[in-house]
This record gives sequence, C-alpha cells and structure tokens, in this order.
Amino acid sequence: MKYILIGAGSRGMTYGAWAAEHGIEIAAVAEKRPDRLADAGQKLKVPENMRFSDGLALLSLGKIADAAIIATMDRDHFAHTMAALDCGYDILLEKPISPDPRECVAIEEKANTLGRRITVCHVLRYTNFFGTLKQILDGGELGKIVAIKHSENIGNYHMAHSFVRGNWRNDRLSSPIILQKSCHDLDILLWLTGSHCTKVSAFGGLSFFRPENAPQGAGERCCDCPAADTCRFNAYRVYTPLLGQWPADVVCLEQTPEALEKALRSGPYGRCVYRCDNNVCDHMSMILEFENGVTATFSLTAQTNAVHRNLHIMCEDGEIEADDGKRQIVVTKFAASPAESFDSRVINVRTGPSGHGGGDAGIMEDFTEGLQNPDRESRSSISRSVESHLMACALEQSRLTGKTVDMAAFRASLLE
Ligand SMILES: NC(=O)c1ccc[n+]([C@@H]2O[C@H](COP(=O)([O-])OP(=O)(O)OC[C@H]3O[C@@H](n4cnc5c(N)ncnc54)[C@H](O)[C@@H]3O)[C@@H](O)[C@H]2O)c1
Repeated sequence: MKYILIGAGSRGMTYGAWAAEHGIEIAAVAEKRPDRLADAGQKLKVPENMRFSDGLALLSLGKIADAAIIATMDRDHFAHTMAALDCGYDILLEKPISPDPRECVAIEEKANTLGRRITVCHVLRYTNFFGTLKQILDGGELGKIVAIKHSENIGNYHMAHSFVRGNWRNDRLSSPIILQKSCHDLDILLWLTGSHCTKVSAFGGLSFFRPENAPQGAGERCCDCPAADTCRFNAYRVYTPLLGQWPADVVCLEQTPEALEKALRSGPYGRCVYRCDNNVCDHMSMILEFENGVTATFSLTAQTNAVHRNLHIMCEDGEIEADDGKRQIVVTKFAASPAESFDSRVINVRTGPSGHGGGDAGIMEDFTEGLQNPDRESRSSISRSVESHLMACALEQSRLTGKTVDMAAFRASLLE
C-alpha cells in the first residue's frame, strides 16, 4: 500500500506515523513549511525528490499511490480534494470538508459521480466508546431512541489553546466552531439516531475571551504582562510543564525550553487570551429534530475543567448515561414502579492508546481495510459526512438569524 500525504502538520503527521508503523509507504509528501517538510520527509522516509512545498504541485504528478491523505487547513481542503479526485485518488480527508456548504456538496457530488471513496476524519465513530453505544442502541434492548441530551465540554484550556490563540480562533481564517469542532458531535447524533436531521435551532456567542475580561493592566503578550503571575492563562504556566506533549508540541516544532521561550515571545500562543483576534463562540445551546421523531439538545461549552463528551439517551424501555471522559456507559432498563428493582449495568469501556480515544488509529485501520476490500461496508460515507456539515452550517445560520432552520430548505438554498 502507498499513500501520499498533503499537509504534514499535527494531524497529517499522526496519520503519516500510523501509516509508516503499519508498513504503508508514504510515496510523496507536500507541506508548505520548510521545517515541517524536512521533518516529515525524514521521519516518513520520503525521497528528497518526492517532497513538495505545495499540495497542488504534488497532485500535478497524477496518481502515484493508492490513496491521498489530506490534512491541510480547513480552507485548503476544497482545492486539494477536487484535484485529488481528478487524479483518481480515494481520500482520507480531515474535517471540516470545507467551511463553505456549497463546496461540501460539490465534493460529495464529484466523489459520488466518480465512484471514489472519501472518508472524512470523524474519528469518534471509530472509537470503542461510541462503537459500544451504537451496538447497544442497534441491539434494541431499550427500544427506539426517543430523545438525546448531548454535551461537548471543550475544556477552558483547550478552548484557549485552539479556539482563542490557535488555528481555529476566527471563522474567517478557518470556520465557525460549530462546524470546526462539533461536526464530530453532529455526525455522532446522525449515526446513533440512524436518521436524517429535519430542523435545527441555536443560541450562543462569545462571552468570556474578550478584551473587557482582561485582568487590569494586562499586556498584549504573557512575556511582558504585569498580571502574568496571577493569570491561569499565562502561556508559560500552560505550556512549560507540557513540553514534549500536546498542546506544547503545537507551539514549536523543536521541543526544547529555548524554542518554546522563543515561540511564546513572538508566536500566536504567547498572546493574551483576552486580546486575540478570536471571534468563535465559547458557548452554544441547540435543539435538533430528526426524521424518525427523535429530538436532541446539544450543548457546546468552553467553560469546563475537563475535556469530555457526555450523553443521556432516552429510549422507549430504558436509558443510557455515557461519559467518554470517565470511559463509562450506564445502561438502565425501566421497572414497572419504584417498588420494583430495575436492571442497570455499568460498562467500563477500554479505549485504544492512540489520540481521540483510539479513533485516530481506528479510522486509519478502517480506511486502509476499506481500500483492501472495496466491498466491505464502511462506517461512514462522504454523503453522511456532508449531512453533519450542513447541519452545522444551518445551526450557525439559526444562531445568527434567531430563526429555526429547515434542513431541506437549507440544502435547496445552496443550489440558488
Ligand atoms: N479529526 C480531528 O479530530 C481533528 C483534530 C484537529 C484538527 N483537525 C483538522 O485537521 C486539519 C489540520 O489541522 P492541524 O492541527 O494538523 O493543523 P496544522 O496547521 O498543524 O497542519 C496543517 C498543515 O498544512 C500545511 N499546509 C498549508 N497549506 C499547504 C499547501 N498548500 N500544501 C501543503 N501543505 C500545506 C501547513 O503548513 C500545516 O503544516 C484542519 O482542517 C483541522 O480542522 C481535525
């Protein structure tokens, strides 16, 4: 098996490293940053003449491998994916497919017309945790799903790192947080309900990471901030103890105290969290209706200590409470009255060692097996992934207009 890799950043290198460890050759790599290109070329053993500084230059070679991994930034996905489809590649594509819903649909149509497989990196589908939930629900012991309460707890430090200082802080640079972060959650709701979304409503905004909440006298950067000693977002306090691990490994390539110091003095991650060019929401509350009658509420919040997702799934004959942070699923069957004992079991889910609760390795395995056995049913499809993206875009429209959005009308409006 041979893959090409376009975008050798944090995500690209996760997939590249998995491929290299599993005997898959990375035939060529494209990466804009020279330091990252050299690092990827060396770690993934890519010959010098197969290292490119741009994805389109690599794709101009035509099809030279079995599949393409596209892990560039959100706004580059469309051009790279359309060109890779023209070459004849099956594709592992990082989410979001594109920040523009019309581009998502164009990719879907082209892939389906050409009969090419695009697996969007909705890594949660490939975890034991969500896989176990899906199995219980499909097994039918609790009857049909009636309603779901789902929460995505981003974690205040994760929010500050990725969505205030980092790549996804501003929707004009990447995409709204509901698409960028929560297309995963919307995909999971589609998967668990096994249905299609019909209507959505959303409320929310950016409350906390704003200039008016900065400590008195705070500077533009932590290195010269008089309030640094008492601020929990002080970048030195956040990143120094985590050198060699996420998220410090995103701040600078070389994981030394000197390189970190330099990056925090001049780079984006040393900026005051209250004085960044961020505009994405730090909280959203949403309601969704599905074709099979299931209703769901979904809450996305930055203001939590832990990074985790929890769900309460109410079914006809029982309920499930699940928390991926605790790796625990509690399944309860209803009794006739409080006088009767009821059936409840606790499942402690084993998670894989790779990132995203084992989902990073899980998706690579599934994608690779799918290429080797094309008749094998995949856990997802480009059309299912586009559906979650359109839900996210409709939710953002609802938040901005204050109106409930009908999904069929939203999709039809994309053709106008
Ligand atoms: N599936 C998930 O759970 C998950 C998690 C985090 C990020 N993501 C997504 O993965 C994508 C990449 O995120 P990341 O954290 O790796 O970002 P990153 O910035 O570390 O990596 C992107 C890389 O693409 C390179 N690049 C930019 N333009 C290029 C071009 N024309 N040709 C070749 N390379 C180019 C950049 O230099 C950078 O190194 C984003 O779209 C992001 O939304 C997905």
